[in-house]
Amino acid sequence: MADHKRIAMFISGRGSNFMAIHQGVERGEINGRIVTVVSDQPEAAGLDYARSRGLETAVFSLGGGEKRIAYFDHITANLADKDVHLVVLAGFMKVLSANFIARYRNRILNIHPALLPSFPGTDAQAQALAYGVKYTGCTVHFVDEGVDTGPIVLQAVVPVLDQDEVHTLSERILEQEHRLFPLAVKLFCEDRLEIRGRRVLVHASEINPARLP
Ligand code: GAR
Repeated sequence: MADHKRIAMFISGRGSNFMAIHQGVERGEINGRIVTVVSDQPEAAGLDYARSRGLETAVFSLGGGEKRIAYFDHITANLADKDVHLVVLAGFMKVLSANFIARYRNRILNIHPALLPSFPGTDAQAQALAYGVKYTGCTVHFVDEGVDTGPIVLQAVVPVLDQDEVHTLSERILEQEHRLFPLAVKLFCEDRLEIRGRRVLVHASEINPARLP
């Protein structure tokens, strides 16, 4: 198998998806290494976990006057010497700049707590309850310039129960997130994902780039 992939993990809070992926790395299930954990929030709980595991952390706070473009240019400059193959957005709540997306095109994965294209943006679980859908779930997708619009890698379905409130539904979706996101990262790290237009094909074994159209 090819060399391991170097992963930059982006978080804003609790970081439970980051932890699930890190545990997959630690167990040897993911052919990758988390080379940095980036947070836009200095108090993000996920940073404590990262530090306790000896992972490098970096906090980039967006100051009042600072433009989003300059903010992400700054992050890009800081990632430059880390040879990052994959950026993982694990509950990272800022919309990336176009420059950043171009720099890491087809190499940024995000998890969203709904079955996209339904309920993009914030509060996806509350949106699903308010709409009254019977099934929702979570989606791992590549990031493009839109909000939660990039090619879909994997999805998991979660039924909505009559007695559900936002927190109970969110909990059951999160269980699926912790299964789905490490799997998507694993597939990426094994070179088994192929983006064809809007579709992402999952190959049984490593893709030989020479054979791609
Ligand atoms: C997760 O539920 C994730 O799907 C969601 O934030 C939570 C982060 O939890 N992301 C979004 O809503 C992105 N639009 P975590 O910090 O414990 O991984």
